[in-house]
Amino acid sequence: MIRLAAVFASVLQPLRTYSMPEKIALITGSSSGFGLLTSIELAKAGFKVVATMRDLGRRERLDQAASAAGVAVQLDIRALDVTDFDSLPGFVDAVVRDHGCLDVLVNNAGFAVAGFLEDIKLEELRRQFETNFFGAVAMTKAALPTMRRQHSGHIIMVSSIGGLLGTVTIGSYSASKHALEGWSESLRLETNSLGIKVVLVEPGSFQTDIWTRGAMLGDQVTKETSPNIQRMLRMRDLIQALPKSDPMEVARKIAAIAQDPNPKLRYVVGRDAKIQLALKRILPWKWHEKIVAKYLKLD
Ligand SMILES: NC(=O)c1ccc[n+]([C@@H]2O[C@H](COP(=O)([O-])OP(=O)(O)OC[C@H]3O[C@@H](n4cnc5c(N)ncnc54)[C@H](OP(=O)(O)O)[C@@H]3O)[C@@H](O)[C@H]2O)c1
Repeated sequence: MIRLAAVFASVLQPLRTYSMPEKIALITGSSSGFGLLTSIELAKAGFKVVATMRDLGRRERLDQAASAAGVAVQLDIRALDVTDFDSLPGFVDAVVRDHGCLDVLVNNAGFAVAGFLEDIKLEELRRQFETNFFGAVAMTKAALPTMRRQHSGHIIMVSSIGGLLGTVTIGSYSASKHALEGWSESLRLETNSLGIKVVLVEPGSFQTDIWTRGAMLGDQVTKETSPNIQRMLRMRDLIQALPKSDPMEVARKIAAIAQDPNPKLRYVVGRDAKIQLALKRILPWKWHEKIVAKYLKLD
């Protein structure tokens, strides 16, 4: 009897492999934070993960995390800068050629330009949009022909609660994420009938490198000549002191969305984000302004 079961199992195993091909996920910005953790979570869920980063010299943390989780074999780590726009279609085509398809694209790469908007130069704002908005747009456009052909695919945009709320001293970041929100919401309407699901993930404050390495102060922001210098220094301390949650919550959410055949358009992640959004929706805008000004001592 046991021998018979073993024979059946050996016959069925190749069939199972054939009927359930490995799903392929491509993720940007995997050297740290959500990108790193999501790469591991997706690999643990059985995906083959093309984990990308602009500098392969920074892959050690991901390699170590993958080995510790026993999923190193599930990762294909490649170099990719999302602002190297001309290279993106060829990059995605090579992934599809090597792995056969593309089931999930996670547009995660991002950073934050910080400073009062009065002090932010146009070129700094443009740089913010190049990565956070145009980078995600260009990656998506590179992936769409394959997903259209497959009549399937998930495109997961890592936006932010800052994409739904204006924010003091990270207004440039907030603007780039608002643009991403509008573009993605529209794209979802256009691609639903093609079998392609566009999803926005909107985290609150989570403990990643974006608060240190990933934050770029505008050139004028902390100069003595800035009219905002005193309140900028106050804000900087306040932002650093903000409570920040465990980024695993976001990584798990993205992995769950990637496996959901029918995901929603938006996922707000983190208690702080949910509270802020509820307050914005419930309170008259003038009250909202007063609370923000008082809490942040903006005078
Ligand atoms: N942490 C939060 O509280 C929070 C909240 C809301 C939304 N988010 C969003 O979450 C995403 C991930 O950020 P994180 O918090 O995990 O911060 P992080 O640890 O700083 O990770 C950001 C990643 O993006 C990469 N990156 C930056 N510019 C890139 C480019 N041009 N091409 C390719 N990769 C690039 C970074 O690569 P390098 O290592 O080369 O710099 C890094 O791997 C971002 O889109 C961010 O806006 C974060």
